[in-house]
Amino acid sequence: MKTLQRTLAIVKPDAVANNATGDILATIEANGFRILGMKMLHISKDEAEGFYAVHAGKPFFDSLTDFMSSGMVVVLALEKDDAIKAWRDLMGPTNPASAAEGTIRKKWGSSIERNATHGSDAEDTARFELSYFFAGYQLVH
Ligand code: CDP
Ligand code: MG
Repeated sequence: MKTLQRTLAIVKPDAVANNATGDILATIEANGFRILGMKMLHISKDEAEGFYAVHAGKPFFDSLTDFMSSGMVVVLALEKDDAIKAWRDLMGPTNPASAAEGTIRKKWGSSIERNATHGSDAEDTARFELSYFFAGYQLVH
């Protein structure tokens, strides 16, 4: 059975710098996601570390949080049936080198770190990540 879900997506600094934001938003809408919330932000290193706290201590953590705080990002609250998996499928795998044709990371990713987009990976992480960037009252419509 399909369940209407929300997920948190981010257009990462590499994609924003590459003028890919419009293409990625068009792909999101063409694939039937409803955009419930959208903000363009330049997050700090501390804010990036808080967002990716689950990865603290991993070898890529310092570089990842430098990258995520290096420029503007676009954070999105998306809604669709089974949105969490649907968005991860549309992005493709973490490493763009392994991504299939037609995925966003294949088209716009340039390395395992600079992979163009983020997506929540489960219901509990989606709840945490949506609330990290959006207050409840901002997602009522
Ligand atoms: O984003 P995703 O859920 O696909 O991957 P993750 O394992 O949760 O890792 C979070 C982010 O860290 C990735 O999207 C990459 O930007 C980065 N990363 C990296 O730089 N090097 C790795 N070996 C793994 C992840
Ligand atoms: Mg992840």
